[in-house]
Amino acid sequence: MAIRNIVQEGDPILAKKCRQITEFNERLHLLLDDMHDTLKKADGAGLAAPQVGMLKALALVMVDDGSYLEIINPEIIEASGTQEGVEGCLSVPGKWGVVERPDHVKVRAQDRNGNVFEYEADGFTARAFCHEIDHLSGHLFTEKVTEFIDPKEYFEDDEE
Ligand code: CO
Repeated sequence: MAIRNIVQEGDPILAKKCRQITEFNERLHLLLDDMHDTLKKADGAGLAAPQVGMLKALALVMVDDGSYLEIINPEIIEASGTQEGVEGCLSVPGKWGVVERPDHVKVRAQDRNGNVFEYEADGFTARAFCHEIDHLSGHLFTEKVTEFIDPKEYFEDDEE
């Protein structure tokens, strides 16, 4: 297992559409294991494969129990409600902004062995799924920001 470099905003790979995964082999498992290590070290809420330079349709998303769920070839099959909240991204350090997202999503994806599953999420976790799945079609949260936030002010207020 290894820590991989996180690609930064401006790199063209972040604007490309990812390829679907068809082989659930050891190479895929190694990539996922490395992404776990990379995300844990970066202490983020999610990480998509293009962020480590791989145009593959997979991501990790932090779910309610604090673990990282692997989603391969994910799609949002249901979305309802709306929420506004602040997002950041490991590929866009220092920038934070308000993004409107659905409040509830149902995601269909495959696990690392190719088994299809569905996962429902609300609130912050629903937001994280949307953010990571956007990465897989070449979209960054900054395209959807309605208002950029000064992180100093925002996070100081948050701690009080
Ligand atoms: Co991101």
